[in-house]
Order: sequence, then structure tokens, then C-alpha cells
Amino acid sequence: MNLKDKVVVITGGASGLGQATARYMVNEKGAKVALLDLNAEAGAETVAELGEESAIFCQTDVTSEESIDTAIAVIMDKFGAIHVDINAAGIPLPCKILDRDGVASSLAKYATVINVNLMGVFNVMAKCAEQMAKNEPDEKGERGVVVNVSSGAAFEGQIGQSAYSGSKAGVNGMNIPAARELGPLGIRVNSIAPGLFGTPMVKSFDQKVQDALIQMCEAPKRMGDMEEFAHTCAYLAENAYMNGRVIRLDAATVMQAR
Ligand SMILES: NC(=O)c1ccc[n+]([C@@H]2O[C@H](COP(=O)([O-])OP(=O)(O)OC[C@H]3O[C@@H](n4cnc5c(N)ncnc54)[C@H](O)[C@@H]3O)[C@@H](O)[C@H]2O)c1
Repeated sequence: MNLKDKVVVITGGASGLGQATARYMVNEKGAKVALLDLNAEAGAETVAELGEESAIFCQTDVTSEESIDTAIAVIMDKFGAIHVDINAAGIPLPCKILDRDGVASSLAKYATVINVNLMGVFNVMAKCAEQMAKNEPDEKGERGVVVNVSSGAAFEGQIGQSAYSGSKAGVNGMNIPAARELGPLGIRVNSIAPGLFGTPMVKSFDQKVQDALIQMCEAPKRMGDMEEFAHTCAYLAENAYMNGRVIRLDAATVMQAR
């Protein structure tokens, strides 16, 4: 799909990988972006930077159907269509099965992570697909593209990542059934499993943890540049033959247990 003047919905678009992708889509591809995020202040700043012609912010909670319905109505009103949906909203909340005293984790903590990282992705993907299905197909028969953000932790989660890894493996698991179901409508679905990127989420980790994580990057031995992630989103949107797959974007990293 040619991204020029297309409408790209980006959850988590007020920070980190989502925000970098919004910048890339507007500045490099000439697309319009709709940023869906809880953080209203950062969302407004990002729109001011990108320009109101090209960007809109909707304060939303991806776990709420009502919240996403409202955002979709605002986007349709302003831009008239949705062509690409990039689901980058996520939380890294650690969740050990047993605490130091051997007490089982509360289910509520586990559910919080699954709710945002997995159910939130399904929620926004479904609502966007409903709108994409109404688009006129382009010359390759395409109506829309979904890019869901997974994680290397979906494959080699560290101790304490049972909830996070479970949520991200769920995102990867949805790829094929979603691609099969939406394919006949001209909508493709892929996911990206990033390794380590220096976003506010990762920068919030203790410096020792960050240093240890960089040591696990194989080559190049550094955090990923957020533009490298944004470029991969654009590639997935533009390449009409990419469907139902998970791209590991991680400098050959294999995470250790801790
Ligand atoms: N940074 C990394 O190294 C890395 C690695 C693997 C996977 N990821 C994944 O990439 C995605 C983006 O991560 P990031 O590092 O840019 O994080 P980030 O914390 O910088 O950005 C995440 C954004 O999601 C928003 N958000 C959280 N919960 C939300 C909700 N319920 N509704 C709407 N918005 C919500 C936050 O407000 C924030 O702006 C996440 O899904 C994360 O799990 C990141």
C-alpha cells in the first residue's frame, strides 16, 4: 500500500516506538496519523510537532470498547477513512508467579497486562478492520494493513515476564487467524517483535538492568534506533506480499533467563 495521504492509526502514539512511527509516517511517507494514547499531554505535544493537518490525538484507553468507538468516530470525522492500524500501546508490568515468600501472584496483576497488551490489540484491530473493510480497494486489491507490536519476550521471556510474554505470544498467535479472516477483505495482518529499543519504557528500567540487556544484544551491540522500528512498520504496510508473519527486529538477540 502506498502510504501517501493514507490514514494511519497508532496506539501508544504519544511515546516511544508509536511516537517515532508517527513522525516517520508523516515526515517520510506523507501519511496522516491518528494517535491513540492515555497520555494527553504528550499526545498534544506530538500533534503540535507534526501539524494539525497531518495529525490528530484521541485520548483513549485501548482496553475500553467505548473509548475506541469514540476515537474511531473522531478519526472518521476528521480524515474520512482508516487504512493502517499500528498497535503499539503496551505495558511491561513484571509479574512473578511466586513472590520472595513463595506466595502466588494475584490474578489481577496478570489480567492487567493481558488486558492492555493482548485484549487492547484485538479491540483496536477489530474496530479499525470494520472501517478498513469499507475502503475502496487499491490497484492491488488492498483495503488495509494491521501491524501489531509483540516482543522478543514472546519467544524467550525472562523470569518475571510470565504475563508480558504470555500477552505478546498471544499477539503473535492472532496473526494467522486474523490474516486468514481479513485477507479476503484486502486487509493484511503482521506483527513486529522488537528486541531492545531505548524508549521511555526501557529508559525507566534501572541503569544496571539496561546495561545487562544491551550485553544480550548480539550484533550490533546496542539498543535499536526507534526509526529502525518505524521503517519496519512502513515496510509491512507497503509490501503487499507480507502477511500473517512475525518479524523479529532484535539484532539477533536471545534473551537470557534474567
Ligand atoms: N522498547 C522496547 O525495547 C520494546 C521491546 C519489545 C516490545 N516493545 C513493545 O513496543 C510497544 C511500545 O513500547 P515503548 O517502549 O514505545 O513504550 P512507551 O512506554 O514509550 O509507550 C507506550 C505507550 O502506550 C501507552 N499506553 C499504555 N497503556 C495504554 C492504554 N491502556 N491505552 C492507550 N495507551 C496506552 C502509554 O501511555 C505510552 O504512551 C509496547 O507494546 C511494548 O510492549 C517495546
